[in-house]
Amino acid sequence: MKLYIDTANLADIEEIASWGVLSGATTNPTLLSQVEGDEDDIYRRICEIVDGPVSAEVVADDVPTMISEGQRLAAIDPRIVIKLPTTREGLSATSALARDGIRVNMTLCFTANQAILAASAGASFVSPFVGRYDDINEDGLGHLLEIVEAFAASDFDCEVLAASIRTPVHVMEAARMGSDIATIPPKVFHQMLHHPLTAQGIDKFNEDHAARLSRKDA
Ligand code: E4P
Repeated sequence: MKLYIDTANLADIEEIASWGVLSGATTNPTLLSQVEGDEDDIYRRICEIVDGPVSAEVVADDVPTMISEGQRLAAIDPRIVIKLPTTREGLSATSALARDGIRVNMTLCFTANQAILAASAGASFVSPFVGRYDDINEDGLGHLLEIVEAFAASDFDCEVLAASIRTPVHVMEAARMGSDIATIPPKVFHQMLHHPLTAQGIDKFNEDHAARLSRKDA
């Protein structure tokens, strides 16, 4: 499973990219509202930092404007992928952009049937939201599994991009079920990495190494 970062915060993207684990990035209007600066400049900088697809979301809600906004965003950098909502307008715009060779990530996807429609319209990625199902007391991972299974049994040229990831358990379970990608907030990357036994182990090895050096010096 490939790991994308889910943020528009450039410092966080630089930090996690320096670990060598990133294959792409996703943003949305909420994430952009949390940072300062010109949106296009932010997309350009993310494309410089991350060597992979970078999702930029369209905010229009009618088909012609979705298409023109998508074309404008796609012209920023060849890495840009256009994010469109899984609605009838989003499907029409996806189909038009895909015919022009522009990659689309259909977002706000909650069911296997929505994902099947997205893939059939020509989306390159479909983003099932896990955490937002959990927010309404439903099994987000269970819904993701339905989509992963449906796609594994089909021949769609569309990758499943698990989104609305809130915990390291979401990441691990998405990988276990065979999701193609998970897009992960910076905080969850840090939670995935840290383990008290790793830190304790390093302290003990350093202590024993220092003890050996001091014996040699004596
Ligand atoms: C990413 O592409 C999605 O927009 C994002 O993962 C949504 O996450 P949230 O439900 O935590 O806002």
